[in-house]
Amino acid sequence: MTSPETLLAHEFPIEDHFLYLNHAAVAPWPRRTAAAVTEFASENVNRGASHYPDWMQREQRLRTQLAELINAESPDDIGLLKNTSEALSVVAHGFPWTRGDNVVISDEEFPSNRIVWESLGRYGVEVRQVSLKQPAGPEAALLAAADERTRLVSISSVEYASGLRLDLITLGHLCKQRGIALCVDAIQGLGAIGHDVQAMQIDFLMADGHKWLLGPEGIAVFYCRPVWRERLTLQQYGWHMVEDHLNFDIKTWRPAASARRFECGSPNMLGIYGLSASVSLLLEIGIAEIERRIFARTKQLFEAITHAGHLELLTDPSPGRYAGIVTFRHNKVDNETLFQQLRENKVICAQRGGGIRFSPHCYTRPATVEAAMRLTRVQ
Ligand SMILES: Cc1ncc(COP(=O)(O)O)c(C=O)c1O
Repeated sequence: MTSPETLLAHEFPIEDHFLYLNHAAVAPWPRRTAAAVTEFASENVNRGASHYPDWMQREQRLRTQLAELINAESPDDIGLLKNTSEALSVVAHGFPWTRGDNVVISDEEFPSNRIVWESLGRYGVEVRQVSLKQPAGPEAALLAAADERTRLVSISSVEYASGLRLDLITLGHLCKQRGIALCVDAIQGLGAIGHDVQAMQIDFLMADGHKWLLGPEGIAVFYCRPVWRERLTLQQYGWHMVEDHLNFDIKTWRPAASARRFECGSPNMLGIYGLSASVSLLLEIGIAEIERRIFARTKQLFEAITHAGHLELLTDPSPGRYAGIVTFRHNKVDNETLFQQLRENKVICAQRGGGIRFSPHCYTRPATVEAAMRLTRVQ
């Protein structure tokens, strides 16, 4: 059996060319994803869609893989949408609100997980933004802002700028106790750390493919707990979302019983082939091993930053409070100057949350982190 070390070294040749610490933005693909997309392209060139039933099987396989990844009860709970923002919109604009209801979010959400709720203002839904930096802890802080009109809490599993990781077991429990739905924007965590929709009592979860899932952009997982499926008012309609979707002759229709009801038209087959290959790698290595490897790199970063003398750590290094994102700033040099120096030296990273954001994945070598840290010393 190939060791994870050997497998990952083979899958990610990018390590030979860049110090790639930007998985919280857009990740490189493993070789197998490129191979799957190339094969699919070649099939389209040589056979067109004459094997469409195989494509549909691949679509189904991706639902099964994603259900396994998040421990959903069934592949029927998985919708394949365009991106995280679309899935958030499906929830926000389908949810059975009554004027005067409110939704609780944090004040450090990525714009998609704020704007979508703010867009409900015209229906009389209030948005409450909460600071997660409170002594009681982020989960209690969110619930402290809730009242009897709070219907939903929407939160990132890992915050995109600070890297703060939410304790979703606790949050799910608190929400359940108060009868509040829990919506998790998982794009900064899924593929890096475990997400268990059953243990965490998550009602809705969404994540695009291009970050920690190591896949293409524009193909996203949308989990909808079965009890909510019929309670979300559908906003989009078409041939693909009906129960008997391959029977084009019948004039009567009803929405699919499964989460396919949220997918109005032709699927993104190219994206499906790509993401399925990427998720196959994650499942092969196993999320526990991936998590272990990522934590080793984030801890390495925490230590290097704390001991460097010239840097200030902005991410909370407490156990359980971080995942793959580490943000820091230079004591004397502004972020833009440091960012430019890093880029010139092939360190791929981002400027976020008032600092520089490094985000290694499971294949990142210790030497990559070491070299990138050396390059934070501005000449
Ligand atoms: C936390 C978070 N949510 C949502 C998005 C946007 O995702 P998408 O482009 O898939 O809608 C991002 C992108 O960076 C993000 O970091």
